[in-house]
Amino acid sequence: IPVDPFDLILFGATGDLARRKILPGLFHRFAVGQMPEGARIIGTARSAMNRAEFTEAVHASLLEFAPQAAKQSALLEKFLASVEYVRVDAGGEDDWDTLAEAIRPDVVQAFYLSVSPALFGSIASNLKSRGIASANSRVVVEKPFGHDLASARDLNADLRRNFDEHQIYRIDHYLGKETVQNLMALRFANALWEPLWNSTHVDHVQITVAESLGVEGRGEYYDRSGAMRDMVQNHLMQLLCLTAMEPPSRFTSDAVRDEKVKVIEALEPVAPSDIVRGQYRAQGSAGSYCDHAGNPHSSTESFIAMKVNIGNWRWAGTPFYLRTGKKLRARCSEIAVVFRDPPHMIFPDMDGRRSNAMIIRLQPDEGITLRNTIKEPGPGGFRLAEVSLDMTFAEALGGRAEPQDAYERLIMDVIRGDQTLFMRGDEVEAAWTWADPIIAAWEDAGPAPSPYDPGGAGPEDALMLLHREDRRWREIG
Ligand code: BG6
Repeated sequence: IPVDPFDLILFGATGDLARRKILPGLFHRFAVGQMPEGARIIGTARSAMNRAEFTEAVHASLLEFAPQAAKQSALLEKFLASVEYVRVDAGGEDDWDTLAEAIRPDVVQAFYLSVSPALFGSIASNLKSRGIASANSRVVVEKPFGHDLASARDLNADLRRNFDEHQIYRIDHYLGKETVQNLMALRFANALWEPLWNSTHVDHVQITVAESLGVEGRGEYYDRSGAMRDMVQNHLMQLLCLTAMEPPSRFTSDAVRDEKVKVIEALEPVAPSDIVRGQYRAQGSAGSYCDHAGNPHSSTESFIAMKVNIGNWRWAGTPFYLRTGKKLRARCSEIAVVFRDPPHMIFPDMDGRRSNAMIIRLQPDEGITLRNTIKEPGPGGFRLAEVSLDMTFAEALGGRAEPQDAYERLIMDVIRGDQTLFMRGDEVEAAWTWADPIIAAWEDAGPAPSPYDPGGAGPEDALMLLHREDRRWREIG
């Protein structure tokens, strides 16, 4: 869907996220004709740079993070012509008038705050009090959105003092992933699954976000967060909500977000015995979490697995198991909906049979697999075997499966004014309301995280979380 010319004002324009994701994402949208000519990217940062120097920096980022740009020199040239730079010390008072002059009041202005949350308040109030922001303005913020409920409330208050909720776009980049959106299509555009999507038919759900990288280079931030704050409170929570929510009455941002909030509010408190925290520990000292975090005595978790119950009619009796960690065997994210067994089995040889399951793969190889049981071919008796119906989106859709990074989608939704894939303020606060007591319990008196080998599947006790209930985790990778 084409959009009108806009001004995207990028605070933190020389930072890592801007270089790796935001600028390459905008270039891709420009290359397919979605970012119209006349749209402008106004970079701002504290460095004293002129336009030519900033353009050169953008050029270098694109060559590194959007390598196809090098082969599209005419296009690249045009894209770079849309780039401006204004020096702004976001914590200071001086540079705002220059910024005001650079912005067009009559187009959509997206203020993208790719900076520390400590600056959100100052930027928002300067934009408002100096008349830079208008009814055409949108403000985009990144995670971490708070460290706990109190800090998330403060951030919400800072933003809402200056902008209406319909102008605030809180990014959780997992919502921009194609398969995550497909989960809604799968559930609500097909009649096949909805009758089965409840505790009568679903035995349990497993949500795994496994990463093979460690925390090298981000140790300082990560050590203050851990897997619970960095991944569960936001990304895994979003996956859980989309899997568990009731069908919204229509596909509007508030109808969808209302249903997600209801799921979070229905989460039951998690017992400490239903949580396993882990920390990767290599043989010898190098390569361990503490080493990467620069904190030899850290008790921050780089892995977490937990059993979560949703206290409502649809899901009572169907646990959701969540698992995420760094330095695991493979990078692999998926949602597995495991169905109950048939009530009565008539086949004597059950060896080849496993429960039916629908596996929704987020990465790599986005797609959906349906696990079924068939008769093993051949005359040798009646033996059962497992087969999968596999649909990889790239194959199924051929050329139509245009690869798109989550950020590209989300940035264009901001320009379009569609908040469906962004977190509403009450949603973020509800997620912290659930997470805070869980974190407090281990911060007060909980055991230290269990060690696990880099390149493995996490600590042993995480396996037990399911084994003790006669279930098992899916293999990672
Ligand atoms: C970020 C976390 O939000 O998501 C990182 O801060 C994590 O720790 C990343 O690595 C994972 O995102 P993706 O898209 O690579 O799965």
